[in-house]
Amino acid sequence: MAVRVAIIGGTGVYDPSILSHIREEVLETPFGRSRVKTGTYQGVEVAFMARHGEDHSVPPHLVNYRANIWGLRLIGVKSILATAAVGSLNPEMKPKQFVFVDQFLDFTKTRSQTFMEKGVVHLDMTDPYCPELRLILSRAAGDLGLEYHARGNYVCTEGPRFETPAEIRMFRQLGGDLVGMTSVPEVVLAREAGMCYATIAMVTNFAAGISPTRLSHQEVVDVMAENAANLRRLVMRAIEL
Ligand code: HPA
Repeated sequence: MAVRVAIIGGTGVYDPSILSHIREEVLETPFGRSRVKTGTYQGVEVAFMARHGEDHSVPPHLVNYRANIWGLRLIGVKSILATAAVGSLNPEMKPKQFVFVDQFLDFTKTRSQTFMEKGVVHLDMTDPYCPELRLILSRAAGDLGLEYHARGNYVCTEGPRFETPAEIRMFRQLGGDLVGMTSVPEVVLAREAGMCYATIAMVTNFAAGISPTRLSHQEVVDVMAENAANLRRLVMRAIEL
């Protein structure tokens, strides 16, 4: 059976235990290797990939986004649900709420954003995040009574450091709602590969200068862990729909 749906698990999401009959595969791509676990959920063949590795050893600027997306394409994936821990710049988007991102602002610096090493490709980015999948996620969150926002503008920084308060003020003036380090180029590559891609952003904190306390990676991991059960329910419900 072809794998149609993939979950890319971000920070705090390493556990493919919703799947049964799990197999681990190493995928060889022109851009290097990627690792994936495949299994079934309610009769649907689903792939699970831990973006930062299962031991969280790969920082955001060193993730091999091209090998990951190409690898998922190789096994037939058509739709990707990606999870992402994010900071919030928007007072309405509060810690533990979900946001089904619809736009991004790209502040990355060193990452390749295309599979095409020759020739010219200008990819349309009007709807970078798949509107159909976003609708499914909103329905799933509504069914489960989870707090969510149906759209949001994700500012992607290079990382791995967190932002300065001055950067956060600038991002807010530019219309950003959320800040994270991984959605670009993942969403761009998925679009180039012709896949339907959506991000489930989970707010873990208010961003630097908005939060009264200094941010740590541990705080992000702790909030993700507190909401892991909700995230799992959301993903399961979305796959059922
Ligand atoms: N900034 C960048 N990335 C993040 C944050 C943040 O505040 N929180 C979780 N991921």
